[in-house]
Amino acid sequence: MAQQPECKVEGNYIVVPKGLVNVIVDETKVSGVDPKGEATIYRGYTIEDIGEHATFYEAAHLILYGQLPCDDELKEIKRKIDAYRGQVPEKLFDALKLLPPTHPMYYGIFGASFLGQYYAPEWKFDPDFLYDHALRLIAQLPVIFAAGWHLAHNGTFYRPDPSKDHAWDVLRMIVGREPSDIEARAFESTLVLYMDHGFNASTFTVRVIGSTLSDLYSAVAGGIAALKGPLHGGANEKAMEMLLEARRIAEEKGVPLEEYIEEYIKEKLARKEKIMGFGHRIYKIHDPRTDVAAKYVAKLKDGEFWLKVLKKAEEVMWKEKKIPSNIDLYTGVLYYQLGIPIPMYTPIFAMGRVVGWSAHYIEQVLNNKLIRPTEKYTGPVGLKYQPIEVRCKR
Ligand code: ACO
Repeated sequence: MAQQPECKVEGNYIVVPKGLVNVIVDETKVSGVDPKGEATIYRGYTIEDIGEHATFYEAAHLILYGQLPCDDELKEIKRKIDAYRGQVPEKLFDALKLLPPTHPMYYGIFGASFLGQYYAPEWKFDPDFLYDHALRLIAQLPVIFAAGWHLAHNGTFYRPDPSKDHAWDVLRMIVGREPSDIEARAFESTLVLYMDHGFNASTFTVRVIGSTLSDLYSAVAGGIAALKGPLHGGANEKAMEMLLEARRIAEEKGVPLEEYIEEYIKEKLARKEKIMGFGHRIYKIHDPRTDVAAKYVAKLKDGEFWLKVLKKAEEVMWKEKKIPSNIDLYTGVLYYQLGIPIPMYTPIFAMGRVVGWSAHYIEQVLNNKLIRPTEKYTGPVGLKYQPIEVRCKR
C-alpha cells in the first residue's frame, strides 16, 4: 500500500503534503466522499443514484438548494433556466464573432467574464441575488460554448429554444440536429454526473476566488480555466483522442481494436506516458460514475464494440498499474457516439460543473474566510539592488 503523505508542524505553521494530498481545508454540505470513504455524495444521495435517475433540473435544484424539488420548485427552476437560456445578450454573440477558432474553453472564460460585466458590475451578497445569478450562468454558459464553436467554424450558430428541455436543447445547439430521446437522456446524465465533486481543482479555484469576495462570474471564469487542463476536465478529450489513435493503428495492422488496445497501452506505459481517462485523486479502486455512463454508452451507436474496448483497457490498466478508469474515459466515448466534436467535450464538463461551482461559491461567500495559505520560501536572501550597468557588467 502506498505510503500516506504526512503533515508536519514547524513552529506556528503546519506543513501539508505537496498538491494538498489528503488535506481537508474546510467543511461543505454540497458534495463529497461519505465519512466511511465508500461513496461520493450529492447532498445525501449517492452520485450514481442521482446520475442515473435525476433530470438536469432536479439535480441542479438538489446541488444548489440542498433538496430534490417538489412540483412548484421544479416548475420554477425549469422556468428560470429555460427563460435565461433564451436571454443571452445579443452583444455577447456579436463579441463571440470576433474570436478566432481557438479551444472553446476560451469562449467560456471570455463569456463568463462578459456576462459579469454586463449583468453585475455591482455585486451583492444577498442569497436571492446570488441564486438568481447562478441560474442565469448555468443556463447561459452552454449557449456561449455552442455559439462560440459554431461561429468560429461555420460563421453561424444555433439559437436556444426556451420551449425545450435544457439538456435536449443544449445538445441540439452543439450537434446542430434534433437529438433522439435516448441521446438527450445520455447527454443529460453526463451533465448530472459532472455536476459536482467535492473540492476538486476547479471547484477549489472557484472557492478561492469567492473567498476574496469577487463575483460569481469571475469565480466561474477561473473555474473554467482550471478545468481546461488535461489532468482535470481536459482528460475526456485526451482519452478519446487516444482511443482514436489506437483504432487507427489497429486498422493499419489489421487487428481488432479490442485486441490491439492491450499492446497499445503497454507500449505507452513502457514509455512512461499517462493513459488518459485513468487514475483519480479520490477513487483509487473504482469511479462509480463510470457505471452509470457505461449504461448509456451501451444504448448508443456501436455501444457493444466500445464497451468491449473499454473493459479490455480497464483490465490491462488494473493488471499493469492497479489504476481504475475515471468518468472521462466513458464520457469521451459517449460524446463521440453522439457525434460531438472532440474540443467540445471539456466545455460540456463545464456545462454540468457550473452548477457545483455556483453552489460552492454561494456556500463560501455566505460563511466566508479568505483562503490564503502560507508558503515556505526556499530562494536566496540578502541580495541588494544594483543598477543595470553595474549588475550586468561583463
Ligand atoms: N496512467 C499511467 N500512470 C498513472 C496514471 C495514468 N492515467 N495516473 C496515475 N498514474 C501513476 C503516476 O504516474 C504515479 O506513478 P509514480 O508513483 O510511479 O510516479 C502514480 O500513478 C500516482 O499518480 P499521481 O499522478 O501522483 O496521482 P494523483 O492523485 O496526483 O493524480 C490524476 C491523479 C492527475 C488524475 C492522474 O491519475 C492522472 O494524471 N490521470 C490521467 C488524467 C486524467 O484522466 N484526469 C481525469 C481525472 S478525473 C476528472 O477530472 C473528472
